[in-house]
Amino acid sequence: MSKFNSLADYATKRFRLAGKAYLEGGDPFFAATDSLRQEAKIKGRHFVSFANYDYLGLASHPAVKASAAAALETFGVGALASRLVGGERSTHHHLEVALAEFLGTDSALTLVSGYLTNVTTISHILGSRDALFIDELSHNSIVSGAKSTVAETIVFRHNDLDHLDFLLRERRDHYRNALIVAEGLYSMDGDLADLVELVKIKRRRGAWLLIDEAHSIGVLGAQGRGLCEHVGVDPQDIDLIIGTLSKTLASCGGFIAGKAAVIDWLRYTLPGFVYSVGLSPVITAAAETALHLLSQEPWRLERLRQNAELFMGLAREAGLDTGPAIGRGVVPILFSDSLETLAASSHLLSHGYYVPPIIQIGVPKDQPRLRFFLSAAHTESEIRGVIDLLATRKSVHAEPVASLSAAT
Ligand SMILES: Cc1ncc(COP(=O)(O)O)c(C=O)c1O
Repeated sequence: MSKFNSLADYATKRFRLAGKAYLEGGDPFFAATDSLRQEAKIKGRHFVSFANYDYLGLASHPAVKASAAAALETFGVGALASRLVGGERSTHHHLEVALAEFLGTDSALTLVSGYLTNVTTISHILGSRDALFIDELSHNSIVSGAKSTVAETIVFRHNDLDHLDFLLRERRDHYRNALIVAEGLYSMDGDLADLVELVKIKRRRGAWLLIDEAHSIGVLGAQGRGLCEHVGVDPQDIDLIIGTLSKTLASCGGFIAGKAAVIDWLRYTLPGFVYSVGLSPVITAAAETALHLLSQEPWRLERLRQNAELFMGLAREAGLDTGPAIGRGVVPILFSDSLETLAASSHLLSHGYYVPPIIQIGVPKDQPRLRFFLSAAHTESEIRGVIDLLATRKSVHAEPVASLSAAT
């Protein structure tokens, strides 16, 4: 086992193992999209991003900006303190009531990050005699929650509920409590958990169910209320719904929603809530306005649906591999290898479309992809344009990877 006295040497080695070599042909990550947009404008070119979570196009909505500005004026920016002891503002309560009402749960609690919400909730509610059942393609925040909990973690194959049921049948009796965690719309593959079946399994096996709706709020369901609405499940049947404000809700932060008894308990005990600050009033105001707009401007949901369907249809026609995606907010295009993926991303950027490659981090090594986030704000010609470029591009062997700076 190598021993490193220098942390820098250790970091250098770890970075190399993590795939640093892929950056040598030009770094496609951390591109400042505002600068790219600005540069393109100066040169009279277009710039379109398929890389942000702004599913309904609310991030720059004038009403969202105005409410954030008004909150800034009234309350300032700072979070001040833990909400329990000095940081509580009336804005927190307003947003939480609105979220619970929208989702159809009794109550909701907001936290400063969606990622933190999963980590702290999963690790807090389970004890050493409990078990956690997670999907093998769970988001890293769920995996981190699993690593932080003292409960035993048991992994089921992606969306394979027969496997989950088998594991519960075999092992449920070994534990006091069992928590199943699944996602609404999976963030890398754009597919769905079978919620109707999950509810049956949880009842049959005496388990609790947590659904991470990060990518389904404002995307799934006739009114954008998420997976429950999409498949007709009563949200009261889900023990915990977790979500984020950083996607459709145009700001930043996370939330947990569920029965009043659960949320009241968490409000006084959840470490990531109690020992951290509450949301800045600027953030709360922006999220609450975005939530309001989601209901007031239903055409956005319809536009997102049309855009995503157009994208899926064109991609399939062009023979591109969209994996298991159902064709809503997230659609991956899978490539044979990482170099091919990098080259495709670079090719798109050279034509003004920003779609960073997803290689090594976040997906299995042999399934690199370009992940597209579709938005109500995309136009038909942008969607046709990007698919056309992918359909007509030559393979990596005919086209060297261009550097990002040369590409704009
Ligand atoms: C499924 C899922 N859960 C949680 C999170 C974390 O949310 P946030 O980025 O708002 O911290 C993400 C982020 O993309 C996600 O995809």
